[in-house]
Amino acid sequence: MAKSKTLFVCSECGGSCPKWEGKCPHCGSWNTLQESRDSGVPAHRFAPLAGASPVRSLAEIEARELPRQPSGIAEFDRVLGGGLVSGAVVLIGGDPGIGKSTLLLQALVSLSRAVKVLYVTGEESAEQVALRARRLELVTGEVDLLAEIRLEAVMAALAEQQPSVAVIDSIQTLYSSELSAAPGSVSQVRECAAQLTRLAKQTGITIVLIGHVTKDGTLAGPRVLEHIVDTVLYFEGDTHSSFRLIRAFKNRFGAVNELGVFAMTDRGLRGVANPSALFLSQHEQNVPGSCVMATQEGTRPLLVEIQALVDTAHVPNPRRLSVGLEGTRLAMLLAVLHRHAGVVTFDQDVFVNAVGGVKITEPAADLAVLLAIMSSLGNKPLPKGLVVFGEVGLAGEIRPAPRGQERLREAAKLGFSVALIPKANAPKQAIEGLDIWAVDRVDAAIARVREAS
Ligand code: TYD
Ligand code: MG
Repeated sequence: MAKSKTLFVCSECGGSCPKWEGKCPHCGSWNTLQESRDSGVPAHRFAPLAGASPVRSLAEIEARELPRQPSGIAEFDRVLGGGLVSGAVVLIGGDPGIGKSTLLLQALVSLSRAVKVLYVTGEESAEQVALRARRLELVTGEVDLLAEIRLEAVMAALAEQQPSVAVIDSIQTLYSSELSAAPGSVSQVRECAAQLTRLAKQTGITIVLIGHVTKDGTLAGPRVLEHIVDTVLYFEGDTHSSFRLIRAFKNRFGAVNELGVFAMTDRGLRGVANPSALFLSQHEQNVPGSCVMATQEGTRPLLVEIQALVDTAHVPNPRRLSVGLEGTRLAMLLAVLHRHAGVVTFDQDVFVNAVGGVKITEPAADLAVLLAIMSSLGNKPLPKGLVVFGEVGLAGEIRPAPRGQERLREAAKLGFSVALIPKANAPKQAIEGLDIWAVDRVDAAIARVREAS
């Protein structure tokens, strides 16, 4: 067998180089190359391999639904696409202290009523985990616990115990003694995840990896981790608020962008089955700079308040800041406002925020951002009971958003009375209690709102 050799792998793009360099030659990122180990197995083998899978035609393969094991926590199952699939590897990331360990402990306790489970803790001692379980008043009789950080020991325990579901808390604390790199380094994280994934596929054990995110919001360790695992979930939400969101970023066994909503309590995380009104702030009266949008997260509509503050800039480069919304789209929307509605903001600071720590990535938020900015600039509240959605194009057109009907129905259910929406989303049948203002241009939308307020 060829000798294994050292490689340097970029944590941004996953590209490799034979020697260390300050700048990754593949993606141009600085200080991202980290030592890794090349297994040295030759890339090509031309001889037939014993035990290799045969080539089969797609038509002859029987398609069956994958058996799923629901965790019993409805919101968690929703993001997983219905439950944990046997042999799947799930990566769950989030800021420290956001509730990853708590959620997984709750899920394991619930799962342990049906199947054998194992919780591997590398961050906290077994006593600390037990203490937490007591505090949350979880009955933990059936949950097996292993306090271990050596990968080889964890693998041996998994192979011996054969649990149906195992949680590794966290992947950054694990280390393989075959690598010289420190625990938490790119090569360790990658190697440990790859070995555990192989084990999961061979044995059918479902493995949930807990991972920490760095300050800029990405999982520490290489992006390649996201390619290795089947499902990537992220905890979102403001650490200061008592709500926690879990979003599916990648899911081989379900829909992406599905959102699970939890409330933090002193007895752990509780699912919020109907979260639509969570992200609206409670104003007594309509205030300038606030606009409610109907967004669609996975399979469920959600109403979110978008806030904007436009204020005279005292610096030559006015600030544009967005929280929970895309910053690049903000600059684009301001340009559209100028060009197609004659609204000038080059001497103004513009701040926009999605209330409640929710992140909105869909372009259907454009119209709400635009109207919130207009409202703040003119210091005039938007009409009462207004809900909006729609994407704004560079030519000033308003483009339709997917699943318009569901958004409208959710808004009507929560008592909104007027919907300003793209023309193409206008419902064929009237929705009870909801006036529809269908517009196809930015200037028409602004004129419609001005008329009414
Ligand atoms: P923890 O699950 O340890 O966070 P992470 O594993 O993501 O770092 O949670 C942090 C603390 O918050 C812990 O002391 C328990 C507490 N907590 C509650 O009291 N109730 C809850 O619902 C959650 C999620 C956490
Ligand atoms: Mg933890």
